[in-house]
Amino acid sequence: MSKAKCKKCEEKCGKGKASPEVLNQLQTGYEKLAKSDSGSMLKRFLTKDVFDKLKFKKTSFGSTLLDCIQSGLQNFDSSIGVYAADPECYTVFKELFDPIIEEYHKFKLIANQPATDWGPPNAFGNLDPKGDIIVSTRVRCCRTLKGFPLNPCMTENHYQEIEKLMQSTFNTLTGDLKGTYNSLSSMTKEVQQKLIDDHYLFKEGDKFLQSANACRFWPTGRGIFYNEKKTFLVWVCEEDHLRIMSMQNGGNVGEVYTRLVSGVGEIQKKNEFVTNEKFGYLTFCPTNLGTTIRASVHIKVPKLAANMTKFKDLADRYHLQIRGAAGEHSAPKDGIYDLSNKRRLGLTEHQCLKEMFDGITEIIKAEKAEK
Ligand code: ARG
Repeated sequence: MSKAKCKKCEEKCGKGKASPEVLNQLQTGYEKLAKSDSGSMLKRFLTKDVFDKLKFKKTSFGSTLLDCIQSGLQNFDSSIGVYAADPECYTVFKELFDPIIEEYHKFKLIANQPATDWGPPNAFGNLDPKGDIIVSTRVRCCRTLKGFPLNPCMTENHYQEIEKLMQSTFNTLTGDLKGTYNSLSSMTKEVQQKLIDDHYLFKEGDKFLQSANACRFWPTGRGIFYNEKKTFLVWVCEEDHLRIMSMQNGGNVGEVYTRLVSGVGEIQKKNEFVTNEKFGYLTFCPTNLGTTIRASVHIKVPKLAANMTKFKDLADRYHLQIRGAAGEHSAPKDGIYDLSNKRRLGLTEHQCLKEMFDGITEIIKAEKAEK
């Protein structure tokens, strides 16, 4: 019987076993992690049994356990520490991925991801009509394009093809969504930094992504599209093929969400996305599966933040995640925090939005009740 061609190396290695070299690196990495004080989910869930069961395996793309966990092995400060090097990893390495996904999204994987349901986009109002507590609101989702692998298995050509494909899609957008695509390769450092400082563009050199092999051929194929008002934006080939987002100043969740729903609809007319019954929209990081929706506000909560233990308890109660305002892994600045729904899998798009909306409503009440 002839073996299937490996999609990564184009050799006929098929579903072969991890090489002695990979096994060696896995063993050393595993022992170091076990001795470390890492608080990552990887450390908790990669038990000896799971490790021994998965260490030899390889997907038809040629990805091994090492490809999925090297970010967590190299960065003990990871909170999760794993990425799916290709879409098959979620199944081939499920003894590791499933418990992480179930704990992160608080969802038992015995049920499937519900079908896409945006609900009535205008169901949500303004969280802060007076405009004194919420600085801005943002809702994003992630998409993987059909026919392309995930970052660690992508060639330079894939990055260029995706960028070209998306440029032609962006050219079809009209009205409020109409805008321009800016390739990172042709952007000056000043423009790039300004876009980052203004919270529009992804940062460069994310160490977690770098060690996951997600930044190869940088900046080829990477870029950002935005409409004239910079309220509708798409990141191309950062962590995911597409990060589609809608944002504006203030707390008008309804307006922000309505724009996202319409933008995603337009992009979908020209492109097909990868989905899976169990995991919904398939993405690179297990935290972004399901709807992939992250709905967030930048919010001023100085009184709550004076007691971080209490603030964290409150956020946990409403399944909200606390970040600094300059994005993931950033420290809060000027008492402004980024609060978002944490769960994205097992809920519909509408339910994700509602979870954020209801949670922030309670956070605002609590902030106002503090002396
Ligand atoms: N791998 C990083 C960690 O474990 C990031 C996890 C979630 N964030 C993301 N951008 N996918 O801390």
